[in-house]
Amino acid sequence: MSDLYADFRRYLCPTSAEPLGLIIERAEGCFLHTRDGKSILDFVSGIGVSSVGHGCPEVLEAIRTQVERHLHVMVYGEMVQEAQVALAKRLAEIAPGDLSMTFFCNSGAEAIEGAIKLCRKATGRTRVIAFAGAYHGDTLGALSISGEAPYQKPFEPLLPDVHLLPFDACAALDGIDERVAGVVVEPIQGEAGVRVPGPDFLPTLRARCREVGALLILDEVQTGIGRTGRWFACEHWKVVPDCLVLAKAVGGGMPLGAFIAPPALMHTLSADPPFGHVTTFGGHPVSCAAGLAALRTIEQQGLLKNAETMGNHLRSAMSRLHGVKEVRGIGLLLGLVLEEPLLTRAVLRLALERGLLVGDFLYADGVIRIAPPLVVSRELCDRAVEVLGESLRLARGR
Ligand SMILES: Cc1ncc(COP(=O)(O)O)c(C=O)c1O
Repeated sequence: MSDLYADFRRYLCPTSAEPLGLIIERAEGCFLHTRDGKSILDFVSGIGVSSVGHGCPEVLEAIRTQVERHLHVMVYGEMVQEAQVALAKRLAEIAPGDLSMTFFCNSGAEAIEGAIKLCRKATGRTRVIAFAGAYHGDTLGALSISGEAPYQKPFEPLLPDVHLLPFDACAALDGIDERVAGVVVEPIQGEAGVRVPGPDFLPTLRARCREVGALLILDEVQTGIGRTGRWFACEHWKVVPDCLVLAKAVGGGMPLGAFIAPPALMHTLSADPPFGHVTTFGGHPVSCAAGLAALRTIEQQGLLKNAETMGNHLRSAMSRLHGVKEVRGIGLLLGLVLEEPLLTRAVLRLALERGLLVGDFLYADGVIRIAPPLVVSRELCDRAVEVLGESLRLARGR
C-alpha cells in the first residue's frame, strides 16, 4: 500500500467503508490515468461533471487567463466581474422561457438551499413538496427534501412542512395546494437509478403549480448542460420551470452552482432584508470562466448531438447484453438495470479490473450508472459495451 493511499485513509474523512481509492495521476479526455500506470475509461464523469472531457484545452486556457487576471475579489454580488457576467448572460440565452437572472453559488446542494429560500420568500408560504426517490444534496435543507428516509433519520429534526409525493404519478399532484411555496423535482430522477417520467407527469405538474401559485423548481444538477442531448432535460417535455437549479457540469470541472429564475422573482432576494441570501465564494471567477469555456466547447463541438447519438448507440448495444433487463435514460444519462441485482458490485469490480469505470446509484441496487463525458466516441462506447458484456458474463459465472 502506497504512503499516499495510507495518508488518504488516515487524514481524509471517509464517506463509506470502501472508497474506490484509485490514485489519480492525470486525467485527459475520457481517461483517468493512475499512478501505477493504468488508463481507465471514465464512464462516470465525476458524477456528471466532466462533460467536455478531462483536461479540455479550451477550459484549461480559460482558467489560466482568469487566474492571471484575478482570483476572488469580493463576496458575491458586489463587484462587476466579467467572467460572472458573461456566464450568466450565456445561461440566460440557453435557458428556456424567461429564466434570465442567475444567482451563483458553489454546489448543487447550496443552489437547492437558495431555491427553497426563494420560493418561501416569493410566496410567503412555507410548504415545500418533493418526491419519493429524490436526491437534492446533503446540506440540511436539501436533505429535508430528499426522498429516502434512511439518509434523513440520523440527522433529524429536518426542515418542517416538507411533504413527499410519489414520482411520476399525475393523480397524486392534487396534493399540491395553495399552501405550497414550491415543488422541487428532478426532471429525471438520478440517484433513484435514472427514472424517466412518462410524457404527462412534468406538464401536469407545471400546470398544477401554476393553478395554485406554487413555484416549480427543477433540479437539473445532474441532467443539465447537455447530459441528455438538450441543454436542459426539461426541454424534452417542453416544460419551463419558475426556477432552474444547476451545478456539476456548469463549472466545466470547477466548483460552481446556480439557480436561475425570471428577474421579478430574483429581485425578492435583494430586499427585506438586503443581504438576506449571500455567499462569499459564489460564482468564483475561475469557475465562471471555466464554465463559459465549457458551454462554448459543447456548442462548437456539437456535443448535444453527440450525447444524443452516442446515448442511442449505447442504449441499443447495452440492451442486447445477456443479463441486462432494461436500459433507462436519455442521452448520456443511462441506467443499466441488471436481471440479477446482487451482481452489481461484482460487475463494477470486474469492469474496473478491465479498465472501465462505471458506477452505482445511491438508492438503486441493481442499476449501473453509465454517464461518460459528452465527447465520448463510438469506438470508446463499443469498447465499454464489450467490457460490460465480459464483466456480466464473468459475474454470472458463465
Ligand atoms: C439531482 C441532484 N441535485 C443536487 C445534488 C447535490 O449537488 P452537490 O453534490 O454539488 O451538492 C446532486 C448531486 O449528486 C444531484 O444529483
